[in-house]
Formats: sequence, structure tokens, C-alpha cells
Amino acid sequence: MTSPSTDTTSPRTVIQPLWDAPVRLLHALMVLSLAGAWLTAESQGWRAVHISFGLTLAGAMILRLLWGFVGTPPARFASFVRGPAAVAAHLRGLLAGRAGPHAGHNPAGGWAVLALLATGLLAAGSGWLAWQGGEAWEDVHETLANALLLLAGVHVAAVLLMSRLAHDRLVPAMLTGRKAVPAGTPPTRSMHRLLAAALLVATLGFWAWSLGPTAPWHGAAQAQADGDRHHGDRHHDDD
Ligand code: HEM
Repeated sequence: MTSPSTDTTSPRTVIQPLWDAPVRLLHALMVLSLAGAWLTAESQGWRAVHISFGLTLAGAMILRLLWGFVGTPPARFASFVRGPAAVAAHLRGLLAGRAGPHAGHNPAGGWAVLALLATGLLAAGSGWLAWQGGEAWEDVHETLANALLLLAGVHVAAVLLMSRLAHDRLVPAMLTGRKAVPAGTPPTRSMHRLLAAALLVATLGFWAWSLGPTAPWHGAAQAQADGDRHHGDRHHDDD
């Protein structure tokens, strides 16, 4: 199989600052909270930690949505959400072996970003409703959480495939902020590191509170276990 000729060493491609610090921090929070929420999903004893991960995922996604309107140019939805014609042209180009580094998300990736954010928010929202006592929401939450895991798996596979096809090191770019882009792309002027640092401090503060004795879900596991003992089967929200 022949590989595409475009690569990051091509004179038409330069490596420069692209993903600002809030984009990268929020992404890291999404990865960690999905992994954490998945690991703690089944056990009653980890309920408070599971809720904390779910709220962290929802918070990161809501902030990413807002940043998509007011953030740096490559972070804005207006710069990467494209119509079906652009997506089709991108996919045709891929099949023809013409894939080069993009100045941000490619047209297919733009829709994957929206799908991940929407599914993540629905999964977290239904989890919240289930915790509030809506037993009917438990199945909805499980289904949406599984859909999110599937989508995240497809997302990672697509990122790795695109990195290969376009000779574009997408994962290091999401970590360092520096990415291969077509020459002439304006570099991201401010990486907003201070804002990301404030977000990180706020996240740590949230976790300190969320795992402490004043959080509403403190002792949720014990209460639920007691409820189960009293009622013989499932927890009711009035006990
Ligand atoms: C180890 C797992 C993951 C890796 C290696 C990874 C990697 C990446 C990379 C490289 C990008 C940039 C793609 C591009 O250049 O167009 C990206 C974007 C994105 N990923 Fe992931 N990802 C992972 C897991 C997740 C998870 C679990 C979620 C959500 C639950 C997620 C949500 C997103 C979103 C929303 C974006 C858009 C970033 C932005 O514009 O803010 N990713 N990911």
C-alpha cells in the first residue's frame, strides 16, 4: 500500500500553537472522568466518586460548549462545524489518499466533537435524574453511558487512523497544543494558560467538596445499603 505524500515535514506544513490550554485541559478532564465514571459505575461503595466523575464530565462539556462560542478561533464551532458537502469532500479525499494536516478538526471530526458533547451531556444528565430517585432513568442512563463509551472508542480509533493517514500527530497536538497546520494558518495568539490554571483549581476545589461530608451524596452508598436491607429489594427515595 502506498502512503500519502503529505507529511508534517512537507514545506507546505508548519508546526505551530493551535489548541489553547482550556481546550486541552477540558479534553483531559473528559478522558479522566469518563474512565473514572466507568470504573466506578457498578459498585455502591464508589457511588460518591462516580457522581463526582459524572459531574466533572458534564462540567467540562458545558464549559467546552461555551468556549466553542467565545474561545480562540480553532476552538470555535464556527471554524470546524461544516456542512455535508465539506464532510463528503473530506471523506472522498481520504479514500483517494489525499489527506493532509488540517488547521484544526477535520470536517468529519467536527461532527464527532458535537456527538461526543451531546451524548456525554445526556449520559451525565440521565445519571443525575437516576440519582435523584428516578429508577426509570437508571436504564436510560446505562444505555446513554454505553453509547458514550462506544462513541469514545470510535473517536479514539478515528484519531489514530487519521494520524496515520494524514501523517499528523494528533494526540501529541492535543497534549502540547502545537499542531501541524497548512502554512499560512494564523497561529493561536493566546493560549489562555491562566484561565486553564483557574479551571484546574476550581476542579480540584469541586472534588475536595464533592468527596467531603457536606456533599449531598456523602454516605449515599450506606443509605442505599440500609434502604435495601429495610425494603428487601430496591432503594426508595423517601427513606
Ligand atoms: C485516550 C483517549 C482519547 C484520546 C487519545 C483522544 C484524542 C483526541 C484528539 C487527538 C483530539 C483532537 C482531534 C483533532 O485533531 O481533530 C480529540 C478531540 C476531542 N476529544 Fe478526544 N481523545 C480521547 C478520549 C476522549 C473522550 C473519552 C472524550 C469524551 C468523552 C473525548 C472528547 C473529545 C472532544 C470533545 C474533542 C474535541 C476537542 C476540542 O475541540 O475541544 N475524547 N481527542
